Amino acid sequence: MGTAETNIQELISKMTLEEKIALTIGRDFWSTNGVERLGIAPIGLNDGPHGVRKPATGSDLGIGNSLPATCFPTAAALASSWDTSLVEEVGQAMGEECLALDVQVLLGPGVNIKRTPLGGRCFEYYAEDPVLAGEMGCASVRGVQSKGIGTSLKHYACNNQEFERMTINVEVDQRTLRELYLSAFERVVKKAQPWTVMSAYNKVNGHYASEHPQLLRDILKQEWGFEGVVVSDWGAVNEKEKALAAGLDLQMPGYHGSHTEKIAQLVRDGQLPETVIDEAATRVLSLLLRGRESRRPGFVFDQQAHHALARKAAAESIVLLKNTDNVLPLQAEQLRSVALIGRFARKPRYQGAGSSQVVPTRLDTPYDEMQRWLGGNVQLTYNDGYPEEERPDETLLHEAVEQAKAADIAIIFAGLPGAYESEGFDRTHIFMPETHNRLIAEVCRVQPNTVVVLHNGSVVAIPWIDGPKAILEAGLGGQAVGGAIVDVLSGKVNPSGKLAETFPVRLEDTPAYLNYPGEANKVAYGEGLFVGYRYYDKKKIKPLFPFGYGLSYTTFEYTHLQTNKTEIGAGETLDVTVTVRNSGARAGKEVVQLYVRSLNSRFVRPIKELKAFAKVALDPGETRDVRMTLEERDFAVYDVKRQAWRLEGGEFEILIGPSSEHMVLSARVIAKEDPRSAVPVFDRMSPLKQFLQYPKAREVVTNAFAGTTIENSILGADELFTSMPIGKMVVLGILPEEKVDTLIEQVNQALRL
Ligand code: BGC
Repeated sequence: MGTAETNIQELISKMTLEEKIALTIGRDFWSTNGVERLGIAPIGLNDGPHGVRKPATGSDLGIGNSLPATCFPTAAALASSWDTSLVEEVGQAMGEECLALDVQVLLGPGVNIKRTPLGGRCFEYYAEDPVLAGEMGCASVRGVQSKGIGTSLKHYACNNQEFERMTINVEVDQRTLRELYLSAFERVVKKAQPWTVMSAYNKVNGHYASEHPQLLRDILKQEWGFEGVVVSDWGAVNEKEKALAAGLDLQMPGYHGSHTEKIAQLVRDGQLPETVIDEAATRVLSLLLRGRESRRPGFVFDQQAHHALARKAAAESIVLLKNTDNVLPLQAEQLRSVALIGRFARKPRYQGAGSSQVVPTRLDTPYDEMQRWLGGNVQLTYNDGYPEEERPDETLLHEAVEQAKAADIAIIFAGLPGAYESEGFDRTHIFMPETHNRLIAEVCRVQPNTVVVLHNGSVVAIPWIDGPKAILEAGLGGQAVGGAIVDVLSGKVNPSGKLAETFPVRLEDTPAYLNYPGEANKVAYGEGLFVGYRYYDKKKIKPLFPFGYGLSYTTFEYTHLQTNKTEIGAGETLDVTVTVRNSGARAGKEVVQLYVRSLNSRFVRPIKELKAFAKVALDPGETRDVRMTLEERDFAVYDVKRQAWRLEGGEFEILIGPSSEHMVLSARVIAKEDPRSAVPVFDRMSPLKQFLQYPKAREVVTNAFAGTTIENSILGADELFTSMPIGKMVVLGILPEEKVDTLIEQVNQALRL
């Protein structure tokens, strides 16, 4: 035991039962309890995840009136940058703002998988893929925690919809849970050790996530080795004693009548072991001590530098979806007039609603930034384009169309109004308001050079796809998004974002369409592993824009895919190298994506899965070797019967491409299975022929059947009998009941050796 641990144990031993219980529940909305008698101060936990939301007081919910902080791009936008160092840099900046605002734990990042685009919190989550979400999560945690500030990895697990989010029971099979929904959490916990993990509101397979022994104790703490504090989402605990017993350490927020006395009584009556309270109190106490060390009274952050970083991050996150005739970047010297159309040009939608809503330090608009860039040389006109409310306004539409027609180019700012997407409820469709759609369609009819800039927290249907020459997906890009858009339109920044969520043609094409939102308070994840591109690939459904897609003002070429070996075995790694060349005329960045495909699996598998990626900056003509490393796990499946990861032997393809739909290079490798993990676990329903495949099992079985009526059928491998489960031999009166379980155990033991 180190000195810090001894110190903590000593402090715990000095505390009364009530003091320890008090540590396991908050003091108010935003802070923990401390132990004043022992000089231990409380700490503050505040939202998160794309900026700090610190209300003025602990009893104030503070949505919309928190202290000003930099509003960085939302997770959905940032993930499109596929740039881990950028996300880490944003994390560092948020860490500094926490120091300045005296916040010890920032409530984020959120790494839940986007299962359906209807999910109201899609904007707060990174991706539809666990490797991308997990890597983004690791980078954010590393960045924030490098400043001595804690993070809260949320919402563990399966908060994939807001509909009935506080009560819904997610029914998900164990393999899908492990490979898809827990995977990003596992990556962040193991690689970045967040100070806290926040348990979700919903139920998972019958237990509330905040009262879930398998999720909290068995998997998170024991299997993954999580050493921090499990904190509940705000109000997620229903029965505190159950939560504590399941491994929850800190219930948030504090409230009157917090049941401290009831819990103390349960401990005194021997119904709840005191060791459970000790474990939670110990974890919370070490969090308080960590928080104490990181306090920097008087710390001031550099507002201008953080705003500049927010602009850089937003620009890197913009995805160029279409660019016919290279209409972008704009050539200012060839333009006489530009028409900006759409309210979002003056009032950008830059973040989502709910607990993550930051009060920004300032807000840049595309209109102002465009004016600044164009100077006085080009005429800039503006029109609202669509009314604030959704009722059609023909006069406004007509004016906008006339303005667009009169200019050399029209740039329309459209997307989803704030009321369409928020924490707390889901969307019911993926359409933009009809007023936006009509505006775009009408303008495109008269103006051949039309560019559409989209602001949205998740995907939208694009019925006017053929109309504009260019489409920029700007997402919810934070307080500096206005400048970032102009940086990309003007070519100051060459777009390099790639979609982190597939754009479907229509909602009916999306993976969870038949299973969402569930009924009778249950939602069955019937599509299993087939979420996002895994679904579109397998069903051969062409999306509008695939996962990983995004254009650039330059072009890239991929050559020389190589692996450092042709086989991978248990515990080994495999290096993959590919040469990328900027074959165009402008400097730019490319996101190289590596997918793994199993060629002869015995498991149901997606066609391919993202396993690594790298972002590389190249000058025109420049060439670079990009290296990515794969591990055993990148080829493995979760074997439910064995409750373990399994490197399946067989042939695999390593695929490289600039998007999930476009693989340009491939190489083959062989995975060598550890023979022990290939052996099945036998039970009463295992067919006899399966036993006969393994010499040791064969021996046990032939002995057991010696002298029975089917001895010869067994020896002769007669399919009629050998295809039957061994348990059926009892029902048929061939094997005595008392023999069968011992036989199975003997076989399982013999084969495990
Ligand atoms: C949200 C969390 C948030 C918490 C505190 C909850 O409603 O689900 O993400 O951190 O409130 O504001």
